[in-house]
Amino acid sequence: GKVLVLHGPNINLLGTRQPEIYGYETLDDVNNALREKAVLAGWELDCLQSNHEGVLIEAIHAARLDGTVAIIINPAAYTHTSVAILDALNAFEGTVYEVHISNVHKRESFRHHSYVSLRADGVVAGLGTQGYQAALEAVMKAART
Ligand code: DQA
Repeated sequence: GKVLVLHGPNINLLGTRQPEIYGYETLDDVNNALREKAVLAGWELDCLQSNHEGVLIEAIHAARLDGTVAIIINPAAYTHTSVAILDALNAFEGTVYEVHISNVHKRESFRHHSYVSLRADGVVAGLGTQGYQAALEAVMKAART
């Protein structure tokens, strides 16, 4: 099986951006740990971070055609704004898990609504970067490689 991990805007700053909220782990730390976990279980895992909505959308389009069975996405601020990312995910037939490092429900009210949750098969929030690992474990448990 193949999994795509997508990170939205500002996630490239992980480790240095508001570490009291997002922690001290870098994006490379997160992606390396995910890749290692996937590969050990015989899975393939691609990671992409972009600050551009269209790049994320085109990655979702590509995932429709390249055998990707699941997308784990932290849409970051696009969570709360992007009908376009929702529409792209609606065109993807595999599993979608939405991840938020912070507990968005404990924060400003504009973070309480997620367009992506209208499509997501599961949502993780507030577990820190461990949330990505939890989502990957769920993907690998639910499917066969
Ligand atoms: C986030 C929460 C969003 O509200 C915020 O815009 C982010 C990160 C999280 O992982 O907790 O950039 O998705």
